[in-house]
Amino acid sequence: MQLVIVGVGYVGLITGLSFAKIGHNVSFIDTDKDKINVLNHYRPPFIEPELKDYLLNSEVQQNTQFFDNYNDIKWDSIDAVIICVQTPTTEEGDVDISYISSVFHNIKDLIDNETIICIKSTIHPLALEKLFKDSSINYEDLVFNPEFLREGSAFADFFHTDRVIVGSLNSENMKKIGELYSSLDTEIIYTDPVSSQLIKYLSNAYLPLRLSFVNEASRVVDELNANQEDVLRGVGLDSRIGLDYFRPSPGWGGSCFPKDVKEIQELAKNQNLNLPLVQSIINSNDVHISWFTDKLVDMLESNNLEKVCLIGASFKENTDDIRHSPTFAIYQKLQQRSKKVEIYDNYVLSDFVLNDFDLLKDYSLIVEMFPLDDSYNKLKDKTQELQNTIYYRFWN
Ligand SMILES: NC(=O)c1ccc[n+]([C@@H]2O[C@H](COP(=O)([O-])OP(=O)(O)OC[C@H]3O[C@@H](n4cnc5c(N)ncnc54)[C@H](O)[C@@H]3O)[C@@H](O)[C@H]2O)c1
Repeated sequence: MQLVIVGVGYVGLITGLSFAKIGHNVSFIDTDKDKINVLNHYRPPFIEPELKDYLLNSEVQQNTQFFDNYNDIKWDSIDAVIICVQTPTTEEGDVDISYISSVFHNIKDLIDNETIICIKSTIHPLALEKLFKDSSINYEDLVFNPEFLREGSAFADFFHTDRVIVGSLNSENMKKIGELYSSLDTEIIYTDPVSSQLIKYLSNAYLPLRLSFVNEASRVVDELNANQEDVLRGVGLDSRIGLDYFRPSPGWGGSCFPKDVKEIQELAKNQNLNLPLVQSIINSNDVHISWFTDKLVDMLESNNLEKVCLIGASFKENTDDIRHSPTFAIYQKLQQRSKKVEIYDNYVLSDFVLNDFDLLKDYSLIVEMFPLDDSYNKLKDKTQELQNTIYYRFWN
């Protein structure tokens, strides 16, 4: 198929390159000219495993073009437009659909009646009604195809996805979007728009709930001085529970979980639904981040150390995405308690982040925020040479 991907962020770029790899022709468009410029030189605009290889792959290059102007795309031949722009949360906990609306306005005079508009961005079920009111598109023909990839393993997730969800009131459009995935060995669920988005939201409620559970479990283990590895493995080996996604951490974050959980909490409030478990997911994470900060402060004080260095600025391994990173939350909390704190990272460039380990002085508590890749081996070796330094990580 001939596709246009609108919004070349984490979701748009990975999805589009993957479609190009399986033979579709993909035109990417983004209003961020710098990003498009970087991509036109086949350079990755962010860190993601395999991204460089995909950008340099000749088959992929043959099937892709990058644009920063809607008018430069050859719209006559386009079968489907896949919208992957951001959908942030408003101050009120609502979803901001203004980016999607602006795409509708950008494309309405360029596409014809046959072009399918598919929304990959996450948009919660109550906000679908707002789209319905947008006169520039026909809501009944829209297709929703929520995305489940994880930053850090996004290409693997695309090609080995657990399922594909397609929702629409137009069964012909729905089938055509489903066919995009026909070469993947996975189940495709065809459903209505509201159900398709509920699948996304309930998944993104369950996953942080699970992470919060494992963090609460780890606090119990820590309190009783039990063996964390043995306990969590012993629990997770029960096939009803499972070991996947069961690693304790200093906290969870990222661009999706905090916003999607907040929005489903708002949805429940708006509908007068009492969901006590869902309502406590964010609070559980906040409590854990505070507990973890207290633990670091205790370690500093009881070992007479002067400074904490948090290793890893992003919200998890294998990405440079710092949106809602627990590292920054802990950094701020330590500063509020007048503790000397630095963040060190090999990939993230920011005013707050050190990339030169030599700047760290002795008498430090070095904290691994998530499992570090091999690029950090030098840092680990250097840390061992430092006197009076403790290297700490929360999981075994
Ligand atoms: N990041 C993830 O891991 C992930 C996973 C699943 C679902 N999602 C959802 O997918 C959507 C996109 O997320 P993301 O992290 O890729 O976002 P992102 O912020 O990384 O990228 C969005 C891109 O859209 C571009 N854009 C905005 N308005 C535009 C317009 N009118 N025309 C062209 N380009 C425009 C921006 O410049 C930006 O490059 C969100 O709804 C998010 O909730 C994200």
